Amino acid sequence: MRGTAFALVALVALAALAAAAWTFLTRPSLPPAERGRRLAEAHGCFTCHGPGGRKGAENPGRRDHTVPTFAGDLMMYAHDAADVRAWILDGSTPRKRESRRWLAERDSGAVRMPAFRHALRNEQVRDLVAYVMLVSDSPEPSDSLALAGRERVHELGCTGCHGAGGRLAAPNPGSLKGYVPSWDGRDFPDLVRDEREFREWVTHGVSKRFHDQPLARFFLERARLRMPTYERHLREGDLAAMWAYVRWLRSPDASPDSAAVTSF
Ligand code: HEC
Ligand code: HEC
Repeated sequence: MRGTAFALVALVALAALAAAAWTFLTRPSLPPAERGRRLAEAHGCFTCHGPGGRKGAENPGRRDHTVPTFAGDLMMYAHDAADVRAWILDGSTPRKRESRRWLAERDSGAVRMPAFRHALRNEQVRDLVAYVMLVSDSPEPSDSLALAGRERVHELGCTGCHGAGGRLAAPNPGSLKGYVPSWDGRDFPDLVRDEREFREWVTHGVSKRFHDQPLARFFLERARLRMPTYERHLREGDLAAMWAYVRWLRSPDASPDSAAVTSF
């Protein structure tokens, strides 16, 4: 009798442990720009700045005709991340508020940039800034190999699934965490330990380590979106350049917090 009770308690404890491990394994840890993208959607930024912030809506009365995008247009409105922050918090920057020409322009347009100071928490503003900076391709790697890698990532279409610069995490129903893993995320080192594994993922669509693990394979095969095989599409030097880019993007140099706007 005592034996059965003991076995039951052990079983319950084991189940609790397994549940905790499961929660830990599957807990989302979205990168900042992806959190920003989801916030931008929830707070209506895309209704005016267009899908993804890439195609501004008509704004009759303004000489520029449309709401500016977060991509090429940003440079005319913001020098750096601090300016982007000011736009979001106050609906303008200190420099713009001193310009009589800008004040007249703003008043002649049908649509105005709202101030979100009282609608958002500090960390939400930081995530939104990360997203806006990403869409404008800022900051830019100073190393030419990493820069070439960023270009190839775009040309090969990796950004379709991994998001702009490989730094977003689009939903992926059926996958372990529920999203396409970003190269920016905290979970990246669990999936890619070193350059060799990176090369395996890109060349064969999976690393050898994951391919040999039945549980990992189960989730990879069950996900809606799957990592393609690029073996036949890679040029000489692509893997080295893309790895240099990923290394850069995971370094402090790639942080948007105080970066200048570099897009045009
Ligand atoms: C009602 C429409 C509207 C909404 C909603 C809106 N914006 Fe704007 N936004 C504008 C307009 C118009 C401008 C141009 C400002 C000017 O020159 O008067 C602007 C300018 C900006 C700028 C600087 C210029 C550029 O290139 O984009 C940023 C950054 C920005 N908005 C971010 C955001 C974010 C982030 C959100 C959501 C939290 C948001 N906006 C919501 C209309 C809007
Ligand atoms: C059709 C969507 C899609 C495209 C396009 C794509 N990937 Fe992936 N990638 C995934 C998915 C989904 C995973 C997660 C593993 C899986 O479920 O197969 C992944 C995993 C990875 C991983 C390992 C884990 C991580 O944190 O990212 C790397 C590295 C990677 N991809 C690099 C690339 C590169 C480089 C390109 C372009 C040459 C690319 N991917 C194109 C969907 C895609």
